[in-house]
Amino acid sequence: MRALSATGDDGLVELIRVPEPSAGAGEVLVDVRAVSVNRGELHRLTTAAAGWRPGWDFAGVVADQKASGTAPAAGRPVPGTRVFGIADGGSWAERIAVPAARLAAIPDGLAVERAAALPTAGLTALRTLRIPGDLAGARVLVTGAAGGVGRFAVQLARRCKAEVTAVVGRPERGEGLAGLGAAEVVVGLEGVEGGFDLVLEAGGGESLREALRLVAPHGTVVSFGNSSRAPTSFSTSDFYPKEASLRGFYVLNDLDGPRTADDLAHLARLAATGELAVDIAAVDDWRDARATLHRLRDRRLAGKAVLLMTREKRG
Ligand SMILES: NC(=O)c1ccc[n+]([C@@H]2O[C@H](COP(=O)([O-])OP(=O)(O)OC[C@H]3O[C@@H](n4cnc5c(N)ncnc54)[C@H](OP(=O)(O)O)[C@@H]3O)[C@@H](O)[C@H]2O)c1
Repeated sequence: MRALSATGDDGLVELIRVPEPSAGAGEVLVDVRAVSVNRGELHRLTTAAAGWRPGWDFAGVVADQKASGTAPAAGRPVPGTRVFGIADGGSWAERIAVPAARLAAIPDGLAVERAAALPTAGLTALRTLRIPGDLAGARVLVTGAAGGVGRFAVQLARRCKAEVTAVVGRPERGEGLAGLGAAEVVVGLEGVEGGFDLVLEAGGGESLREALRLVAPHGTVVSFGNSSRAPTSFSTSDFYPKEASLRGFYVLNDLDGPRTADDLAHLARLAATGELAVDIAAVDDWRDARATLHRLRDRRLAGKAVLLMTREKRG
């Protein structure tokens, strides 16, 4: 079968032939139809050695496990079921074996490419927003709000009745964010008034420094990325009197519990009913992945980018 693999240079990825996976205990075989591209994968591809296999998100169809010599376990989705979920890596492939706890069924009415866009970005938004507890009436600041995680975070925070300020890098990147629930859309953090109960921060560098300045007394800054790849320096004496918290978050750390399938099902239900918009900026053939990754690198995608697997006939 074919899979996308790191080239180890500016080409980023190429299609290569790899052995078919087989499902281990507790795993399900999935024929992948669509995957989404996350900034974290792009970053890793810029530093990975040739041969490294990227891919967290996937959506597809449960494969016939008997054909691969493994009988499906009781209670597992039957072959042909549409499923989506999150792998530890390697999902940019025609077929993957993934723990059953990491996937959920795709509800009727939700297209496979929309399902593929949900897992990493959706779970990150959902789980970072849970960190401080009840958000009703809270002021929430979302940096990188035009991006994959940001668009979900704005909507999910608003569903929790928070008042959301969305931060973008350029005015045109703010388009549509008010419609997703942002009370205010700002370009950069200069001049923004503080007092945020929660800041979702993945810009790093200056953006994190500003987040620590803008967080309210006893508020929380969740740092979950460093899109700028820049270090942060900040004045501790401005920060500690507020007794605010700086919390890290990494979505891949906590995926094997029972909650992952529930959270995925929750996101899919919201997306299928139209309560959660899945803004897809690009749907490309996976053979064009390199161009998609370059557009993500150049900040030319507002929302998620999805790759569709074109298939070869199986012999
Ligand atoms: N810890 C975790 O578990 C976890 C999970 C998912 C994502 N992440 C991280 O969270 C961040 C957002 O992920 P994503 O998939 O939503 O990415 P994305 O779709 O590319 O969105 C990132 C947004 O950040 C903004 N940005 C600000 N400064 C930037 C810079 N110097 N370079 C690039 N973008 C910049 C961009 O908005 P403008 O163009 O408007 O400036 C962009 O819309 C990334 O850093 C990613 O690695 C972490």
